[in-house]
Amino acid sequence: MTDSVVVLPGEGIGPEVISEAVKVMEWFVQTQKLDLQLDIESYGLSCYKESGVLVTEDTLSKIAGSKAVLFGATGGPEFDAIPKEVRSKGNLLAIRRRMLVYANLRPVMAYRELEDVSPIKNEVARGADIIVVRELNGGIYFGEPRGNSVHGRPPDQSVNTLVYSVREIERVARVAFQLAQERKGVVHSVDKSNVLETYRLWRDVVSRVGANEFPEIELNHIIVDNCTLQIVRDPRQFDVILADNMIGDILSDLAGALTGSLGMLPSASLNQFEPANTGRSLYEPVHGSAPDIAGMGIANPIGAILSVGLMMEYSLGKRDLNQLLKKAVSGVLGTGVRTPDIASNETDPVSTAEMGGEIISELERLHKD
Ligand code: IPM
Ligand code: MG
Repeated sequence: MTDSVVVLPGEGIGPEVISEAVKVMEWFVQTQKLDLQLDIESYGLSCYKESGVLVTEDTLSKIAGSKAVLFGATGGPEFDAIPKEVRSKGNLLAIRRRMLVYANLRPVMAYRELEDVSPIKNEVARGADIIVVRELNGGIYFGEPRGNSVHGRPPDQSVNTLVYSVREIERVARVAFQLAQERKGVVHSVDKSNVLETYRLWRDVVSRVGANEFPEIELNHIIVDNCTLQIVRDPRQFDVILADNMIGDILSDLAGALTGSLGMLPSASLNQFEPANTGRSLYEPVHGSAPDIAGMGIANPIGAILSVGLMMEYSLGKRDLNQLLKKAVSGVLGTGVRTPDIASNETDPVSTAEMGGEIISELERLHKD
């Protein structure tokens, strides 16, 4: 049976970067004879203008029947003007939750080829290779009660709730430990257990899962404020960083500084340990919609392109293709081809489409060798 991938470009720079990622995916389909069909669907602002919702029922059922979803970006001033009730039904958070993708993997590497643009000293960052495992379906992003006081406009009080169940912590912890097994065997679990009860539970559950199921993995607990300092002070001490939804969101941007630009970072959101495993996963670049540069053709497509690599590895079990793609990206960066966000002084920056084209050419070259 042919598997399908649903592509949701979204808004802002989403469509530009996704169009390069789709070219890479099509290249894989052709050269590797993958039995994969691509469905590009309207999502977000464009869908709202056409049909009054962020995502149609038809697209949702395509997602339900798909192998994977490739997502571009969402948000921006025009998007924010869509009524809140409409947004809350189909926004990215609702999609993540609906797909049950609770483990968000965000690999971050200090590229040798980008040392000239890294904001972190080369001798500190060199060789850093981290994967942030961010819990994606729970925590303060979804906790109830939430909302504003009914009195007062603007409200005089607002509330959000940081809530985690044991089961939610266990399942994401297992993903982190399992990844560490294939990597350097070290997990840092991040929390603020010195102040908040939820993080005390987080710490206890992660410890128990580690001791009972992964005794060979070195587990370190680290308080979030110290962790931010350590990431920029000595990033090489980290291998797998496990964090809840909100801390993972913040730390993955911070760790992105090691790469030089957020535009470089891909992500994979999985639900592989869910008992009702749907097998569906969501792939998206970590950067947002960047409305200030949308439509200019200068956005960095590498985060979106590398997300396709993660899809090859995690949804299709083709790790070799992800390796090949990473090699192609490094090769292109090594020749000095750069979008403006990673441009050095020596070379003229290239466009989004030129970067995509260069990566395909490099894939061709590596494929022939
Ligand atoms: C991310 C983004 C999103 C998040 C926003 C756009 C809702 O920052 O994917 O990191 O907070 O999860
Ligand atoms: Mg974020």
